[in-house]
Amino acid sequence: MKQYLDAAIEIAREAGAILREGFDRPKTISYKGEVDLVTESDRRSEQLVVARLRTRFPDHGIVAEEGGGAAPTASYCWHVDPLDGTTNFAHGYPCFAVSIGLAEGGVPMVGVVFNPVSNELFAAARGEGAYRNDVRIRVSPVEKLATSLVATGFPTHRRKKSSNINYYWQFTLRSHGVRRDGAAALDLCSVACGRFDAFWEFGLKSWDTTAGIVIVEEAGGRITDLRGQPYRLGGPSILASNQRIHQEVLQVAASIAEDAANDT
Ligand code: IPD
Ligand code: CA
Ligand code: CA
Repeated sequence: MKQYLDAAIEIAREAGAILREGFDRPKTISYKGEVDLVTESDRRSEQLVVARLRTRFPDHGIVAEEGGGAAPTASYCWHVDPLDGTTNFAHGYPCFAVSIGLAEGGVPMVGVVFNPVSNELFAAARGEGAYRNDVRIRVSPVEKLATSLVATGFPTHRRKKSSNINYYWQFTLRSHGVRRDGAAALDLCSVACGRFDAFWEFGLKSWDTTAGIVIVEEAGGRITDLRGQPYRLGGPSILASNQRIHQEVLQVAASIAEDAANDT
C-alpha cells in the first residue's frame, strides 16, 4: 500500500496548494442544488487529482464528486472529494480539505486528508497506523458520552427531510457539546486524533468517508452505521468513535429513532 499512500500524499499536497491559492481570491460560486455550492476551486482541484491518479494508476477506478471519474478495470477504486467543506471555503471559513481515499473491493485501504490552511495532513494505510504530519495519532481515551465532545453534519440535499436536528438536540443534552464544522472528512480526522470522541452523519457519499475511515480505524477508532451494522461506502448513516463510547452512542441513537417512530 505504500506506493498508493505516497502518491495520495503527493497529490493531496498539490491539490491543497490549488485550494489555498483559491481561498485568498474572490470566489465564483455556482449552485448544484438549493444550497449545494460549487466553486472554480472544486473543479480545478478535481481536475488535478483525477489527472494525476489516471496517469499513475490507469487501471484503477476513480469516483470523484464533481463527476471527473473513470471506470475501473482493477478492484482498486479511488474516492476523491476535491474540496470537502465547500460552503466553509466559499464563506472564507478556513475549515476545508482535499480527501483522497483508496478502496479495494469496497474496503477502504488508504486515506489522505489535507487541510491547506492549518497545514495538517492526515494519512493512513491499513495496518500501518494513522499520522498527522508524520506524528502517530490515536483516538481519545474518553469513556462516557457525558464527558465527550461529539460532531455531526447536515446534508445539503433533501435537507427538509432530515431528522438529524433531533439527534443534534438529544446528543447536545447528553454530552459536553455537539460541533458542526462543515467538512465531514475533517470531522473523521478529528475523531482519529482525539479532538472529537464521536461523529455521526446521514447521507454521506463515498468521497466524504473513504479516506477518513482508514484514518479513524488506524488510530484505534471504530466505524459502523448508526444501527451498529457494518458501514458500507455511501450507506445511509455513519458513526465513527473512539470505540469506548460507541455502544452508548448507538443506544442513544436507537432511542431517538424509536421515539420518532412512535410519534408518527
Ligand atoms: C459536505 C461537508 C459537510 C457535510 C455534507 C457534505 P462538501 O461536503 O462534508 O460537512 O455535512 O453532508 O456534503 O459538499 O462540502 O464536499
Ligand atoms: Ca464532501
Ligand atoms: Ca466536495
